[in-house]
This record gives sequence, structure tokens and C-alpha cells, in this order.
Amino acid sequence: MPRRSIFLCFSTISVAILAATAAGIGVNWGSQTSHPLNPNIAVKLLKDNGISKVKLFDADPWTLSSLTNTGIDVMIGIPNDQLSTMGKDYDIAKNWVEENITHYLHDRGLKISYVVVGNEPFLTSYEGEFLNSTFPALKNIQKALDEAGVGDRIKAVVPHNADVYDSASGAPSGGAFRADIRNLMTQIALFLKSHDAPFVVNIYPFLSLNENSHFPINFAFFDGGGKPITDGGRQYTNVFDANFDTLVFALKRIGINDMKIIVGEVGWPTDGAKSADAANAKRFYDGFLKRMASNKGTPMRPGPLEVYLFSLIDENMKSIVPGNFERHWGLFTYDGKPKFAMDFSGKGKDAMLVGAKGVEYQQSQWCVLKPEAKNLGLLAGNMDYACSLADCTPLAYGGSCNHLGDWMGNASYAFNIYFQMQDQDVRACDFQGLAMITTKNPSRNGCLFPVEIVSAGKRTAVGFVVAAAAVVVAVSLMRL
Ligand SMILES: *[C@@H]1O[C@H](CO)[C@@H](O)[C@H](O)[C@H]1NC(C)=O
Ligand SMILES: *[C@@H]1O[C@H](CO)[C@@H](O)[C@H](O)[C@H]1NC(C)=O
Ligand SMILES: *[C@@H]1O[C@H](CO)[C@@H](O)[C@H](O)[C@H]1NC(C)=O
Repeated sequence: MPRRSIFLCFSTISVAILAATAAGIGVNWGSQTSHPLNPNIAVKLLKDNGISKVKLFDADPWTLSSLTNTGIDVMIGIPNDQLSTMGKDYDIAKNWVEENITHYLHDRGLKISYVVVGNEPFLTSYEGEFLNSTFPALKNIQKALDEAGVGDRIKAVVPHNADVYDSASGAPSGGAFRADIRNLMTQIALFLKSHDAPFVVNIYPFLSLNENSHFPINFAFFDGGGKPITDGGRQYTNVFDANFDTLVFALKRIGINDMKIIVGEVGWPTDGAKSADAANAKRFYDGFLKRMASNKGTPMRPGPLEVYLFSLIDENMKSIVPGNFERHWGLFTYDGKPKFAMDFSGKGKDAMLVGAKGVEYQQSQWCVLKPEAKNLGLLAGNMDYACSLADCTPLAYGGSCNHLGDWMGNASYAFNIYFQMQDQDVRACDFQGLAMITTKNPSRNGCLFPVEIVSAGKRTAVGFVVAAAAVVVAVSLMRL
């Protein structure tokens, strides 16, 4: 989801205030995974951990049904690839609202707060693809909600990446919408405001740190260690506040002073990059959740904030174009196990979250490189193949399996992850005779060789193909 954030040049002092439950905290629940958890198990996971708000990226019927009559507040998403038709044809928007919103209300008992139109549609990396369709889609969806008689309580919103604004001065007070989309952002913000809908923005201190080796590390967290920076008398001790307030100033600049702002995504990944690990994620969330509980807000917006953590579980099919960390944003692992201690109430209690219950696993077996394997010339091609279809991001630099320390371990990791992804089909553990199935768990040195769960859903198309030397897809994550 996320890409980049601004503000590079600050440092920190700390404010760790203990207070009551942070009521405004929700969680993003993405579905780009090869083996989705059963939605009923995932909903139980939310409830067991007291999570009362979720943001979804689509309107999957099974997921929505499992959320009915739970009291959980839901944001339902429309993917970017549907914006164009939704914007062009009001009837399409109307049908979408009927089938995916109105249908779940009333006696079906789904609590819907927002319709999320698109996801970060104006990211610079999309090169303008959704510039023409987003605003028309937003208007059509809101109109359909209004006509269905629910527009007063269900609002259409657009979640933006923080790259829709910047600051010429580098300080929050210089905030302005990006020059190339200023006019469009102004129209959208005024439209939202006139419908009493919030501005939704995704803010990622992790990316500020990850993308700039000179970024002062303490400024990414909330627990101090650096000098605060001052902007017009306001003190900033972390990049989250600075980024948020830059948006506040960008809105002020177009005459909007009091619009509600929701943070649609904020979080810290645990694998796939140097500063992406459980210790840093815990540090980030500890400080962030205490801050939320304090209801301190930011210097420009004191008071409670509404935020959605990114994300519920790891998603092994997410694009890694932005970085290998993209598949490791979960508060929970692929199978719903908590990764580190955290306390949603912000009281700093050092306890693990409650894990998913009733998860069904495949057999306790793994696919590894045969110790006696000959013909090692075939290894690189077979690893490339496995890693082009399955998730080898823990093996790369900065990953939790990068220190296996031997190429045999690397090969076994790649073979196993592919084998698991293919539901342990015996034909998926051959690799031209290099591989074998074992019941001895090869996990070691902090590197987990997973056993996949029994998928609750249709598999995202991966296409089963028996590994053959000729088929080497060019995603060269692995090189021996
Ligand atoms: C409702 O949402 C689902 C899932 O996102 C989508 O496949 C379907 O086409 C939508 N229905 C309508 C009528 O657009
Ligand atoms: C958006 O509209 C402009 C002006 O009509 C046009 O030049 C551009 O090609 C359109 N872009 C897309 C992605 O459709
Ligand atoms: C294992 O693979 C990773 C990723 O390509 C690489 O950085 C590492 O050096 C490899 N280790 C060995 C011992 O080959």
C-alpha cells in the first residue's frame, strides 16, 4: 500500500503518557495472500483482541458476512481498477452500492462507516493512471449512497498516500498539495468537506527511515532520543506528527480549517528490510499506541485521532516493487500468530495479543535440498523458479533468513516455500531431483520454514507448474 513519506530532517524527545483505552484504533485487513485465513477465524481474532474497526480493500461477500452482527465497524473498499467504470457510469456505481452496501444493512446487521473509493490512486508511481477516474467515482458512489438513503451516515472517502502533499520549506507549515494535482485535490477535499466526509491519509514513518539513510532514527519512533524541531513555535518530536500537520497546513492553504482527518494506514513491518524486524515494530507500536491512548493528537490537531493500523496479517502475494518488506506488515503472521507484545489500550502492558484459534494446517512436513544432491548446476535456475512464484523475501538482504549462512539453507528455504504454496503437492518437491520431503523441521537461526495453512479461499492465481529447468522466470531474487 504505502510508498513514501516526507520530512527527513528532525529528531526527537519523548512523550510517553499512559492513559485509557485508545478508542480510535482500527486495523486494515488485506487479502493479497495465497492462503487466506477462514474469515470467521479472522473475525474471532479481531474480537478476541478487542479490535472494533476494520478497513477492507474490497467487498468480499464471505468476509462481509462474517462481520455481520459483530458490532465491528467496517470500511469497505473499491479497488483502483474499478474506478474508471464506476466514474463513467452512474448505474454501475449504483449497483455496486446496492450489492455491496445496502444489501448488508438493516436486518443483516453490518456496521458500515465508510466506502473507500480506490487506494492511493494518485501515487506518483501510477503515472496519472487514475487521475481522471477517481473524483467521478467518488461523486457517483456518494450520490448512490445518498439515493439509497444512507448517505448521512455512510460516507465515500479516498485514501491518499502522503505523497499527495509536500512542503517546500521542509517544515509542516510549508504544507501544500502536490503542484501537479493541486487543483484536483482541492476539488476533492472541498467535495468531501461539503459531504461531511473525512480526508483519509496513509502515513508511514517506517518509509521515511527506510528510504533515507540519513534520517534520524529516533524521529521515526515516539520514545525520544533526539532534539525536537520547532516550526512556528510548535515542537515536533516525530515524523508522524510532522507529516500529519503538513496535511493540516495543505488543507488550510485551500481554505479548509476544520476537516476531520483519518489515518487510513500506519504501521511497521517485521521482515524484508534492515529496520524491519519485530523489535523495531514493537518499539514503534508501543510509542504509537501510548500516544493514541493519551489523546494528545498532533501540535496542529490536539485531541483524539482515528487511525487504522497496517495491517492485520502478512500478505505473501503483495507486490514487492516498493520493497521486500511489503509482505510483512502483519501484526499477525500468515497463520494468525502474534509477532510481538503489544497493547491496544496504550497502557504499555507487555503481553502478546491473542492468536487465531482453530487454524487448520497442512501436514508437518517440509521440502529441502537433498544432502546428497548432485548436479548443483541446476540449483540457481530451480531456486529462481521457486522464488518467482512463492515468497522468498525473508532470504534477501535484511530478511530474517538472510543469515542462514549456507547456500544449502537458501535452496531449502526456496524449495520449501514453493512446496507449501502448492499445498504440499509431491510434484512440487522435485526440482529436477534436487529436493526431498522431510518431517524434520529445518527452521533455525530465527528463520522460520513455514508449514502452510489449509486455505479458506480460492487461491490467487499462481498456476501449478512442475519445476523444470527450462522454465526460469526472471525474478532473480536468489543468486548463488
Ligand atoms: C461487489 O463487490 C465485489 C467484491 O469487491 C465485486 O466483485 C462485485 O462486482 C461488486 N458488485 C457490483 C454489483 O459491482
Ligand atoms: C485524462 O484526461 C486528459 C484530458 O482529457 C487526457 O489527456 C488523459 O489522457 C487522460 N488520462 C487517462 C489515464 O485517461
Ligand atoms: C543466500 O541468498 C541470499 C539472497 O540472495 C544471499 O544474500 C546470501 O548471500 C545467500 N547465502 C549464501 C551462503 O549463499
